[in-house]
Amino acid sequence: MKILLIGSGGREHALAWKLAQSPLVKKLYIAPGNPGTASIGENCIIPAEDVSELKAFAIANAVDLTVVGPELPLTLGIVDAFEEAGLKIFGPSRSAAEIESSKVFAKAVMKRHKIPTGYSKTFDDITEALDYADTHTPPYVIKADGLAAGKGVIICHTVEEARSAINLIMKKKAFGSAGRRIIIEEFLTGEEASFLALTDGKTVLPLAPAQDHKAVFDNDAGPNTGGMGAYSPAPVITPALEAEIMDTIMKPVIAAMESEGRPYKGVLYAGIMVSGNRPKVLEFNARFGDPETQPMMMRLESDLAELLLATVEGRLAQVDIKWSPKPAVCIVMTSEGYPGEYPISREIRGLDKAAGLKDTVVFHAGTSFREGRILTSGGRVLGVTALGTDIKDAINKAYAAVKLISFDGAHYRKDIGAKAIKA
Ligand SMILES: Nc1ncnc2c1ncn2[C@@H]1O[C@H](COP(=O)(O)OP(=O)(O)O)[C@@H](O)[C@H]1O
Ligand SMILES: [Mg+2]
Repeated sequence: MKILLIGSGGREHALAWKLAQSPLVKKLYIAPGNPGTASIGENCIIPAEDVSELKAFAIANAVDLTVVGPELPLTLGIVDAFEEAGLKIFGPSRSAAEIESSKVFAKAVMKRHKIPTGYSKTFDDITEALDYADTHTPPYVIKADGLAAGKGVIICHTVEEARSAINLIMKKKAFGSAGRRIIIEEFLTGEEASFLALTDGKTVLPLAPAQDHKAVFDNDAGPNTGGMGAYSPAPVITPALEAEIMDTIMKPVIAAMESEGRPYKGVLYAGIMVSGNRPKVLEFNARFGDPETQPMMMRLESDLAELLLATVEGRLAQVDIKWSPKPAVCIVMTSEGYPGEYPISREIRGLDKAAGLKDTVVFHAGTSFREGRILTSGGRVLGVTALGTDIKDAINKAYAAVKLISFDGAHYRKDIGAKAIKA
């Protein structure tokens, strides 16, 4: 089978790494990919958002299955375009992907179908939003409706913060049209986890839970990022809680999407807040998580190509998934300044040394080639990931690899996985 994988982040390197291990896969293209995926398959210089070029490429190269990594092409309707052309593609349609691309829509679906989530109100009028903030007691969370690259959610501890968040989104239009509408949501406390499931629209097959670390600094200090590290499994998701999440969230939302005329297939990611041992949905994503995918793929023992194909072909009812019982930990190395502005083109050293370590894989994200060297090219640069006999062993192995790698201004959290040990 020939596979085209779309995207260029650490998530896509991890998916490519796992897909390439499948005996079903004869050829793997990655568009546009990164230096990490270049060592596994063939990178093609087509941006992830260029739906018509990607479609032409899939037809010209007789691609059997296309796998979409990031959310933007889904939101642009890549699945609809490929399916119209009779091409197999893994991911939800544009209207189903709205569960991620519109937080207002996601909240409305959850309300209509009684799926547990924080109390919230939607506003398209700035005066009404400001008035609501003035007359309610903080803390609350203000969210831009649309895609905002992980920056559109602001936690407000005072009315003043809320007023400036509302002004930032609705008046200064910091996130453009993504901020035309906002949600003001109840602030939830507890521990977060990422719960993902494959679904063909009927069967919902849970994946191994994971936990991400959003904040840039140790002890969850500083602004939120795209993710500074992750581990799987997630001790906070006990077997009883997993069953509750499946019964009260995952299965009902897939049935809800069907009943609303937006049948959902692909992978559905629920951001969950576990609060007093009860799960509530923070948001849904219409794709795999980054960096959660990196430790998840290290633990996956089943054939990923077969799993994704079974999803596309509606055969998930006949599929089992096997995971290694060993935990995996991913530590993200970032450029200094991220998630704000950061320099690029700094040479990365030590990748060859880290490559020799057992049970350890360095997934590339924001890297680029230049004259035989590998340079930084983004905020999140590498996802250093290791499998261990227990969580402590996985953490130690991952940090041992991190210590072999260097670039000017490299930053990483020193406490990835600490929560899992405490649990
Ligand atoms: N209601 C809430 N209560 C507390 N924290 C929240 C709430 N909603 C979101 N957050 C925090 O903000 C982060 C980002 O919010 P999320 O809804 O996942 O949006 P996005 O990932 O699109 O930025 C979450 O991972 C969580 O840490
Ligand atoms: Mg999120």
